[in-house]
Amino acid sequence: MIKVENLTKRYAGQAAIRDLNFEVGKGEVMGFLGPNGAGKTTTMRILAGFMPATSGRASIAGFDIFEQSLQARTRLGYMPENVPLYSDMRVTEYLEYRAALKGVPHRRIAERVGDVKELCGVKDVERKIIGALSKGYRQRVGLADALLHEPDLLILDEPTIGLDPNQIRQVRELIKNLGRQHTILLSTHILPEVEMTCSRVIIIHKGRIEACDTPENLLGQIRKSSRKSRLCAMSRRMSMGSGMSFPCASNPALTCVRKFFGWQQHGTGRCAN
Ligand SMILES: Nc1ncnc2c1ncn2[C@@H]1O[C@H](COP(=O)(O)OP(=O)(O)OP(=O)(O)O)[C@@H](O)[C@H]1O
Ligand SMILES: [Mg+2]
Repeated sequence: MIKVENLTKRYAGQAAIRDLNFEVGKGEVMGFLGPNGAGKTTTMRILAGFMPATSGRASIAGFDIFEQSLQARTRLGYMPENVPLYSDMRVTEYLEYRAALKGVPHRRIAERVGDVKELCGVKDVERKIIGALSKGYRQRVGLADALLHEPDLLILDEPTIGLDPNQIRQVRELIKNLGRQHTILLSTHILPEVEMTCSRVIIIHKGRIEACDTPENLLGQIRKSSRKSRLCAMSRRMSMGSGMSFPCASNPALTCVRKFFGWQQHGTGRCAN
């Protein structure tokens, strides 16, 4: 569904992403995990057709995102980091307006808007002014907007950012349900989020892909390696002054994950979120 080849973006000569290569298969829920400034939003904006790349290629459902941008964009729904909602419109009015902009046929607008309101749980606030909604409800309206034209692929940039734990749980549940019928690329910097919602995860750091695997495999390796690093630290302490050396295997991807998501070093297997 998504194919990315040697994708690079430079801002004023500075590379935000470098030579990214990855594929997301139909029906997959792929996590895009990385710390602040890793290049998640840059990659997603390029895929969603909001920004050109400096070099490289990418396609959505077989359509080149640069040369067949319109066809590619009809296949995807994009929820940006800061959902750009018109705060003085009512929820239904906004969704109807967006549906018309997205080319949903006039006779189908009411039905589509009704469906996405139901799916995203915004029916109870349908008459409210968007500016008066809580952050969680605004995220839901943003998700409803992304779904209006019935895309096969959803690109969701940090959909749970800024939500309270209750709203996070509800939005994750919603994404999980959407994953039954859609291909999803979801960015986050919360490790348990990918564990809960994603079938595979790409770890990105400083614009480069450091690892790509299932959450189970990655977490298994991390746990193993954190046990190993505790043993290593112990053996290093024991070897001090003895002249003996204790070699320790290290995996750069896991080192990167440990460094930025920190929780593994405490051996808890969970972070605060
Ligand atoms: N418009 C811009 N002009 C210049 N540099 C930019 C611009 N947008 C992003 N960058 C830089 O590109 C790099 C990647 O940024 P990006 O927003 O893609 O990261 P991110 O992974 O989405 O981070 P976050 O988790 O904070 O949202 C950063 O170094 C950022 O400063
Ligand atoms: Mg971002």
